[in-house]
Amino acid sequence: MTTPLPVVRTVANLRAQVRSWRQAGLNVGFVPTMGALHEGHLSLVRLARTKADRVVASIFVNPTQFAPHEDFEAYPRDEAGDMAQLASAGCDLLFSPTVDEMYPAGAATTVTVEGITASMDGIARPTHFAGVATVVTKLLNQCAPDVAVFGQKDFQQLQVIRRLVRDLDIPVEIVGAPTARADDGLALSSRNAYLSADERKVAVRLNEVLRDAVDRVRRGEPVEATETHAIADLQAAGFSKVDYVETRTPEDLARLGPGPIAGPFRILAAAHIGRTRLIDNMGD
Ligand code: PAF
Repeated sequence: MTTPLPVVRTVANLRAQVRSWRQAGLNVGFVPTMGALHEGHLSLVRLARTKADRVVASIFVNPTQFAPHEDFEAYPRDEAGDMAQLASAGCDLLFSPTVDEMYPAGAATTVTVEGITASMDGIARPTHFAGVATVVTKLLNQCAPDVAVFGQKDFQQLQVIRRLVRDLDIPVEIVGAPTARADDGLALSSRNAYLSADERKVAVRLNEVLRDAVDRVRRGEPVEATETHAIADLQAAGFSKVDYVETRTPEDLARLGPGPIAGPFRILAAAHIGRTRLIDNMGD
């Protein structure tokens, strides 16, 4: 039987534990999450394990990255189930703070990252990245890990985090982990839990359409026509709304096209099925 996972709920207790590991000469990996864990999160923990002597995971459903009409209240929560999974994946400590612990009364500072937040999810969810950048900055300051692991599924988020770590001189290595997928290719996401059986059949088309778009761009087809084709395919498959399908440079997320391109690229997409919004990305 796996040993129960120790949990701390205050920044002071998190810091005390990390300090004692450091005093013992151990380095620390960190995997921030919002819980509702699945195999994708566990793959981040396992990757962190290969890079650090001790691994901390956090579970905090961060209210500031949800707009008022979004799914903050409905976001799936299962701390006991999450803790059992974290323990079996080799996590050493869970940091699970309350909203008051993370945002004490009077908190007045927001971290905003310019430029790469001005497109795609930054347009579809205008307050989202300030919430993410603020909470991730706080979590990195609180845990002070040597390495922190984030999933490439949230590709724009990953680049926003790389940028803020660089710009704010936060001494941590950011590692991007490959997207974990179901057998049929659907990117694993806590929000997949919202999908009905029929919607789940539509959802799989997101990765198929992206795969096709990547092949087309690699073959030298024009970027803009490929994106238009992909949007039409998603609509025909049953997605109720397509927020974007965009081809971008992998690091700066600069727009590529409209014609054929050479060199590295990522195609990022976001689309809705009913009340569920899914994102995915692929490329070199
Ligand atoms: O990707 C997530 O789960 C969240 O955006 C993160 C990075 C934990 C910040 O709340």
